[in-house]
Amino acid sequence: MRKLSDNMDTEALQKSFDEKIEKDIKIEPKDWMPVEYRKTLIRQISQHAHSEIVGMLPEGNWITRAPTLRRKCILIAKVQDEAGHGLYLYCAAETLNITREEMTEQLLSGKAKYSSIFNYPTLSWADMGAIGWLVDGAAIINQIPLCRTSYAPYARGMVRICKEESFHQRQGFDILLTLSRGSAEQKAMAQDAINRWWWPSLMMFGPPDNESPHTIQNMKWKIKRFTNDELRQKFVDMCAQQVEVLGLQIPDPDLKWNEERGHYDFGPINWDEFWNVVKGNGPCNKERMAARIKAHEDGEWVRAAALEYARKEAAGLTGKQSEKATIKK
Ligand SMILES: [Fe+2]
Ligand SMILES: [Fe+2]
Repeated sequence: MRKLSDNMDTEALQKSFDEKIEKDIKIEPKDWMPVEYRKTLIRQISQHAHSEIVGMLPEGNWITRAPTLRRKCILIAKVQDEAGHGLYLYCAAETLNITREEMTEQLLSGKAKYSSIFNYPTLSWADMGAIGWLVDGAAIINQIPLCRTSYAPYARGMVRICKEESFHQRQGFDILLTLSRGSAEQKAMAQDAINRWWWPSLMMFGPPDNESPHTIQNMKWKIKRFTNDELRQKFVDMCAQQVEVLGLQIPDPDLKWNEERGHYDFGPINWDEFWNVVKGNGPCNKERMAARIKAHEDGEWVRAAALEYARKEAAGLTGKQSEKATIKK
């Protein structure tokens, strides 16, 4: 009898969940949700958080070599923003009953993935421009629909993240524009950066729809609002127009406007390269993981000190507590 009523409860809960999704009512952490929905979100949000954190490395590499003080300040602010994005997203994932420690362990052990784009090297200053314009540009296209994703804490986090991403994209475009109007060498450096970052940026939207097994379910749950191929097309259409302002080229001989489709056509993507990088064989996979593991180990004493301070504060043993007590008196 017990079992039967449990099943009936689950059915009712599932029904009310489905109705909320249908009516575009957001799911909050305390609401009932299907096990697979929770699992999918934990995977997606934690991978997103890991990508923000690992994504600090290729650009952090150029902070000391920025060409002017102004560019250095902007780049520092941008890299700090990415750290903030990682923190909001780890917090959003924690509302689904996974701890920060578990997520960190999954990243450092290689169990969890992060965006493959960050396994490519940054070879010149122009790469800061190409990353901002293309990588943050692709992130915006991917993330704007996530402001309307069905899980409320994720959607709320994305609103602020998207505003900051748009600043990132503009600062990247501004770097490329400055270089494209500079000397012949500077213009060539900007073009070389676009040549190297273009195709990996297209891969950021994930495999083609017919090879993306989770897409249909994620669209039904309204976690995803557009398919990988739809988002990729939006990105190509946006960049094909913006590159003209730069006076530079997108490295694709097949890129051309298709009047009938109302979109730009583009050439085939090398998916073998994508899967090779996902599997850990990209140019910088090992370097990126080694940097994160070192940062985690170097930070051990900070975490230990913070925990000890929190313990003392809870026990009323810190100066801060006695200060409060004095004020009260
Ligand atoms: Fe970000
Ligand atoms: Fe960004």
